[in-house]
Amino acid sequence: MKFTIFTLFPEMFAPLEVSMLKRGREAGLLFFDLVDFRDFSGSRHKNADDTPYGGGGGMVLKPEPLYAAVASLPPPAGSRRKVLLTPQGELFSQRRAAALAAYDELVLFCGHYEGFDERIRALADEEISVGDYVLTGGEVAALVLVDAVARLVPGVLGQSGAVCSDSHATGLLEHPHYTRPPVFAGQKVPEILLSGHHAAIARWRRKESLRRTFLRRPDLIPGALAFLGGGGRDGSAEQAFVWQEGDYALLEELAAEEEGIRLCRPLWAHLRPRERRGRRRRRRDG
Ligand code: ADE
Repeated sequence: MKFTIFTLFPEMFAPLEVSMLKRGREAGLLFFDLVDFRDFSGSRHKNADDTPYGGGGGMVLKPEPLYAAVASLPPPAGSRRKVLLTPQGELFSQRRAAALAAYDELVLFCGHYEGFDERIRALADEEISVGDYVLTGGEVAALVLVDAVARLVPGVLGQSGAVCSDSHATGLLEHPHYTRPPVFAGQKVPEILLSGHHAAIARWRRKESLRRTFLRRPDLIPGALAFLGGGGRDGSAEQAFVWQEGDYALLEELAAEEEGIRLCRPLWAHLRPRERRGRRRRRRDG
């Protein structure tokens, strides 16, 4: 997958040279092209910003350098998506990362200064914000996006199964993890994880994943329960969630253990497993 990044500060992308992103690049899975669009300003002083029409403080990114930089792009080798990083964009999510990972190339536009000329918006297919706060520019936001998307590219993480159980990949937070030693600083690893009983471990992990989500991110619950009921929030399989037999029982157990979760019982009433036909008929027939 290729990332073409238009920025005035290419040196802010040093993190691309570290860890998994570096390995992905060395393995030929990721390609990064950092383009300093100041080089396309056409002016002797390489000005990329100017004062705003209508007055007021701060400087505004000029449209010409970015337009010229985009015009210089080679024709796309495959599918290409152009993304503008801005605090006014759609809030970034695992779901959006998964959708963007399907493209062959992402072209990212990083703004800087107080803002950018409104006509720059027309260059992008979509606008993304990485959170409801304002950064000094789009560079750090672009790094967040690149990191989240690149790790979904097959082969980048090495162990391909890992991304399926990530927090948010399923609509739930991930279960806790432990490694040696079995007791550390007075804190014990849960007995079940040492048991070697794979089915019981899977059940425990699932339950703790549900518990964490309820207790830490209750805002995710309605969406996650829609997944539990089968299908994506909007019927798409983009954020694949596999409804697991036994989820209803786990939710009932959690309700018995945590008062905060008990209050949510009406939310999963629709997941109650139907009685088997034979049993229902037997009961009816006496
Ligand atoms: N540029 C400045 N703040 C930003 C944010 N929160 N998301 C994306 N781009 C930005």
